Amino acid sequence: MSPAAGREGAGDPAEGQRGAGDSVAERIKTLREKVSHHSELYHAKDAPEISDEEYDRLYAELERLERENPELITGDSPTQRVGSPPVEAFAPVEHAIPMLSLANARTAEELEAWGERVHHRLERADVDPGELTYVTEPKIDGLAISLTYERGRFVQGATRGDGRVGEDVTHNIETIDELPKQIDGAPPLIEVRGEVYLPIAAFAELNRHRIEQGLPAFANPRNSAAGSIRQLDPKMAAERPLAIWSYGIGVSEGEAFETHSAEIEWLASKGFNTNPDTAVHSSIDEVLERCQWWLDKRDELDFEIDGVVVKVDRLDLWNELGTAGREPRWSIAWKFPPTTATTRLKEIDWNVGRTGHLVPWALLKPVRVGGVTVSTATLHNEEDLERKDVRAGDEVVVMRAGDVIPQVVSALPQKRPKGARKPKPPKKCPACGTAVVKPEDSVFSICPNRTGCPGQTFQHIKHFVSRGAMDIEGLGEKQVARFLDERLIADAADIYDLTAARLESLSGMGELSASNLVAEIDRSRETPFPRVLFALGLPGIGEVTAEALAEQFGSIDALRAADPELIEETEGVGPITARQITESLGEERTRELVERLESAGLKMELDDSERRPEGGPLQGKTVVLTGTLPGLTRDEAGAMVKRAGGKVTGSVSKKTDFVIAGESAGSKLEKAEKLGVEVLDRDGLDRLLSSG
Ligand code: IVH
Repeated sequence: MSPAAGREGAGDPAEGQRGAGDSVAERIKTLREKVSHHSELYHAKDAPEISDEEYDRLYAELERLERENPELITGDSPTQRVGSPPVEAFAPVEHAIPMLSLANARTAEELEAWGERVHHRLERADVDPGELTYVTEPKIDGLAISLTYERGRFVQGATRGDGRVGEDVTHNIETIDELPKQIDGAPPLIEVRGEVYLPIAAFAELNRHRIEQGLPAFANPRNSAAGSIRQLDPKMAAERPLAIWSYGIGVSEGEAFETHSAEIEWLASKGFNTNPDTAVHSSIDEVLERCQWWLDKRDELDFEIDGVVVKVDRLDLWNELGTAGREPRWSIAWKFPPTTATTRLKEIDWNVGRTGHLVPWALLKPVRVGGVTVSTATLHNEEDLERKDVRAGDEVVVMRAGDVIPQVVSALPQKRPKGARKPKPPKKCPACGTAVVKPEDSVFSICPNRTGCPGQTFQHIKHFVSRGAMDIEGLGEKQVARFLDERLIADAADIYDLTAARLESLSGMGELSASNLVAEIDRSRETPFPRVLFALGLPGIGEVTAEALAEQFGSIDALRAADPELIEETEGVGPITARQITESLGEERTRELVERLESAGLKMELDDSERRPEGGPLQGKTVVLTGTLPGLTRDEAGAMVKRAGGKVTGSVSKKTDFVIAGESAGSKLEKAEKLGVEVLDRDGLDRLLSSG
């Protein structure tokens, strides 16, 4: 995929247009430096500073000047290589077959032109393609990865790097549970290619944690996936729920395929995650239809896609068509409208969040981003604001990824109006006027008026009714504000006391809308416990953590009774979060809210069908899984343990009863041995399950 871009080119005399005295050679040199710099920020540092379009524009200008002046092309020009050179901390891995990049088509015409070029080229080569078929796949916005299997065993994972040489990230790849570590009936050598990514919910949660800790937020799921895979410590990578889609085969010895779709089928049959919506088409018109279908589906997905990859299906034609520079001729990426744009930041304002944190946000000149008009964006926190040096009046790059709140990625200081001043966090809460406090270890100023601040109350209720939480349709931000204003409600629990009669008394609220809303509120009582737990809006409990905690503890009472050490054993929960959870659940006001919601009929525990069965052979036992178990995925093994009444946790402690260790088990096995925890293999697990 192509690096991100801002828009220094457009309308900027200093950057966009060349002065009359500039020589072409100088401009090419400047462009090369810029493209290399931004490519490195994007590919090696996972921290783009400019938007996609801007990068593409710089790159396109460079390409054009080089095309017009071929004598000026040099081997080290960024147009002659893919991505950026590998970072030095990882061992280099040479790709036997280069990992290529893809040419882009942004319009139907460009895609049609590609189809015609394919036909012409085959005609010229005297190849009769018969009926030419194409495969479409989503273009996942992650990190390209090469996975080598020797005699069926996973032996190496490598990044793309510059396309020729990548980085050895085997240990981090091993932490991805769903990746098969052993494949049955495999040829002597096979290299699977795919895309590592972070699901959107996990990305949002990871960023929230980072922002709370004062770390820079990742700009998009791609950058966070790349950052995670490049962790030098596999434990850090393991804490992030990375996932992987496999979309092709590189080197293969002893297994031949005729078509790309056959490769995908083979991968699926061997247990790799392949995209279930991969499709084969017999015309470019059909392909175009499919591209539109993906565009419509884009926002429903729990992973980010930035386009559709179109490939000629027959592999013999791939050889015939060959590559042009760093791009294959047999494939093209149909790119969606960009998710970044540049606009003017009119004002910086401050909001109080549901836990009292003051959050800076930007009021923007409205701009279209990824198909939506955006007029506000988050600036995360004081430290991030300071680091990015964003000021009112600045031209800024805005990014929107999936459902995640739009954010200001960077400012373009070269366009800063004279006299633009650095913003200062307010001394008083913008909602209630209470003097703010700034704890030393926090990147936020905080409004200490926890119970009386109307801003905090509003944010809390807004979160409570939101989509991933209680999901009460018809009770959006505006209604919440109005109901608070008109004193219909004062907190989240009051929602359940609303009656149709009471609602009808509001001006503009008809009988039908009132009864619809009451029905929606009623329906929300059936919301499963994990989502109720998330809806409570306690610090540290995001959507993903709420799921994990609910599964682990089963009920709010059990979670409240647990000490932080026990909570810490939950997947994805660290010591700070564990302490936060214990503290906030213990607070009187949380207790009271939970009690009132419970008497309103909300679920404060898992249903029986969601629970681990009672009386199974592993009843009350805590099990940690590590390494590859023969013939079982981690998920399958986990499900077996749970069906037997056991509990699966992510880390080994004194409270762990059994560690089930498969092949290439690492630090968890060591820790089990150190602590004297019983270690079993696959057979041991089977015995345990059958006997108890
Ligand atoms: S095929 C030579 N298929 O897009 C063809 N790539 O811009 C490249 N990508 O480096 C690989 N989804 O990281 C292919 N279904 C898909 C893809 C995909 C995402 C990424 C991949 C590649 C980049 C090329």
